[in-house]
Amino acid sequence: MKKIILTGDRPTGPLHIGHLEGSLKNRVKLQNSDDYEIYIFTADVQALTDHFNDPETVRNNVREVVCDYLACGIDPEKTTIFIQSQIPEVAELTVFYSNLVTMSRLYRNPTVKTEIAQKKALFGENGESVTYGFVGYPVSQAADITAFDADIIPVGEDQLPLIEQCREIVRKFNSIYGDTLKEPEALIGDVSRLKGLDGNKMSKSLGNAIYLKDSEEEIIKKVSKATTDPNKIKKDDPANPEVCNVYYYHKIYSKDNLDTICSECKNGTRGCVSCKKELAKNINEYLKPIREKRKYYEEHPEIVDEILKKGTEKARKKAMETIKKVKQSMKINYFE
Ligand code: TRP
Repeated sequence: MKKIILTGDRPTGPLHIGHLEGSLKNRVKLQNSDDYEIYIFTADVQALTDHFNDPETVRNNVREVVCDYLACGIDPEKTTIFIQSQIPEVAELTVFYSNLVTMSRLYRNPTVKTEIAQKKALFGENGESVTYGFVGYPVSQAADITAFDADIIPVGEDQLPLIEQCREIVRKFNSIYGDTLKEPEALIGDVSRLKGLDGNKMSKSLGNAIYLKDSEEEIIKKVSKATTDPNKIKKDDPANPEVCNVYYYHKIYSKDNLDTICSECKNGTRGCVSCKKELAKNINEYLKPIREKRKYYEEHPEIVDEILKKGTEKARKKAMETIKKVKQSMKINYFE
């Protein structure tokens, strides 16, 4: 039997080239190996844990994210794509698992801890108004994973504490109710997260991201604002490419011309303006097929809906098998 891979994204914004390099490419590779049964979903319930007051954003971004998936080569014939909220069994499992985790363990989860600290506007200076749902989202993530009997979870480093917490819940469940659930393993992608145009981690909130849906003009404009070697003031000053964000991207998108770019930058024969233009051109070229494919799906929302409906139906079947086993183990299968 094929191993099961499951992964998801919070639909809080469209996906950017950091997602493409850090996870989407890897997912497509895994999909095309035909060695796995793959599930990918938009984690809208999880997105609502910190966007509960903004349901519109979550709703709109479900389709945006799915268009990004399809544009990058996620093939609905091979990969099951679905929406988390449409699988009620996940919510049921979350309730059952919540008995198996202590509050202090949740508060100690490094990912949760960091996020509470980052969301001061929402949860207060010291997290004093953090919600039950937010602190508990690792429990719901454990439900996402186990509902589909997943073996492998491809994620970024920041998600490791969540996978660990899921493994603990599985062990606890199995030790109390008997062997029922599978302990999943994290698969860390080999490319670390891309830096943004300003050198910080690429993220929507920092405004330093290049989105897969950006137009050519938007990309030219964004790249023109990227930060470069701060010591280079004039066009013909020699500079250090290793501290330049534009060069950082050239290393990914301008591989053919890299030696020239590097030496011209170092000896002062390359101005930042033209260097940025060259980068924007290469990124645009690289994103062209993705952008075209994305446009097709944007213009055909009925096709996207059909893919999601079919995927959700298939995923639900799997989750129903799991919940049946879980209820048997927990002795709450009264009418069977
Ligand atoms: N927490 C993940 C993120 O923020 C999204 C997610 C929700 C997820 N449930 C999951 C990822 C289950 C992998 C498996 O990106």
